[in-house]
Amino acid sequence: MSRDGAVYWDPFDRDIATDPYPVYQRLRAEAPLYHNDKHDFYVLSRYEDINRGLIDWKTFSSARGPILEVIKANIRIPPGTLLMEDPPAHDIHRGLLARVFTPRRVASLETEIRDFCTRCLDRLGGAGRFDVMTEFANEVPMRVIGMLLGIPESDQAAVRERADAKLRTEPGQQMKVSEKALMDTDLFADYIDWRAGHPSDDLMTELLRAEFVDTAGTTRTLTRAEILTYVTVLAGAGNETTARLIGWLAALLDRHPDQRAELVADPGLVPNAVEETLRFEPTGHAVARYVTADVELHDRTVPAGSAMMLLLASANRDEDCWPEPARFDIHRKVSNLRTFGSAPTTASEPHSPGSRPGSRSRSS
Ligand code: HEM
Repeated sequence: MSRDGAVYWDPFDRDIATDPYPVYQRLRAEAPLYHNDKHDFYVLSRYEDINRGLIDWKTFSSARGPILEVIKANIRIPPGTLLMEDPPAHDIHRGLLARVFTPRRVASLETEIRDFCTRCLDRLGGAGRFDVMTEFANEVPMRVIGMLLGIPESDQAAVRERADAKLRTEPGQQMKVSEKALMDTDLFADYIDWRAGHPSDDLMTELLRAEFVDTAGTTRTLTRAEILTYVTVLAGAGNETTARLIGWLAALLDRHPDQRAELVADPGLVPNAVEETLRFEPTGHAVARYVTADVELHDRTVPAGSAMMLLLASANRDEDCWPEPARFDIHRKVSNLRTFGSAPTTASEPHSPGSRPGSRSRSS
């Protein structure tokens, strides 16, 4: 709260970050279009406004990056990042990824994933207390991504540590941004070269072989640099997000022992419990966009060149959309989550790129 009692929101403020939801509620009520003078960015906090911001990619562009610090740093974004592209490049690269990164491919790993999770949890059996993040949640996503990409199990832990280190920021501090830091493609360079000579039934081999029509209309395969960018984005986008989801599910079930008991009694409730966790505690609270043209919002003009934060976590608690949004309920009917960005989806509907309502849907 600012000195005059007006609502104040700052993504780098640790005190606000411990429980930002009361601030999000005030933003929706008092300042649906908010400007932070200290860091010079705008914020939309209402569900409908965020929807518009996610779908209107011409005005709210991703081509400068989806993170505030990246937009402010105005660095060169290499091709093939998806997350930091607008159509037509975005749609071409996403279409290609969707051909190789399919729900069927992930499903084919189910036994291996279950075995790995069982091994992780078996070694914790009988432990009075353990840290679910270090002992389990931080382990699983990168291992699964490693399995998808065909990275030998012996190297997966090292890959995870490097991927994590890149995204880590000191509490209350901004992310250090440089082109090198953003796209640390060296991480996978050896594998791509090795896999090129040792093709197998994995996503990396498919990416190496996949033909597509690029933005110049040429039919070709991906360059080595583009493949490096792809897998770096996949590892970065899929690792910390999923680890946090596992962590939040554990924390919320610990705080709601009655609902936890229901899940034990009826595991069929688990998918909806995951949905509700993604709504109640989304792992990414906001995505950022670069404003390409002056835009009128709530009787004010947001000038071209501005940075706009779309507060996904606030959309997931918007009282105009969710009854009792501040109540965690594994029986809640959850649809049209904003946790994965645009394109109304829920976690149980695989985000097949074909299902795009507008000219550009992006979810993962
Ligand atoms: C709980 C788990 C996850 C959450 C909350 C999450 C959230 C998001 C969000 C909000 C976006 C949109 C960003 C934007 O609009 O700027 C996104 C995009 C993306 N995510 Fe995830 N994600 C998760 C898991 C994953 C996983 C496991 C992978 C892959 C292994 C992944 C890969 C991607 C990719 C490739 C994109 C870009 C899609 C596009 O631009 O079309 N994500 N994710």
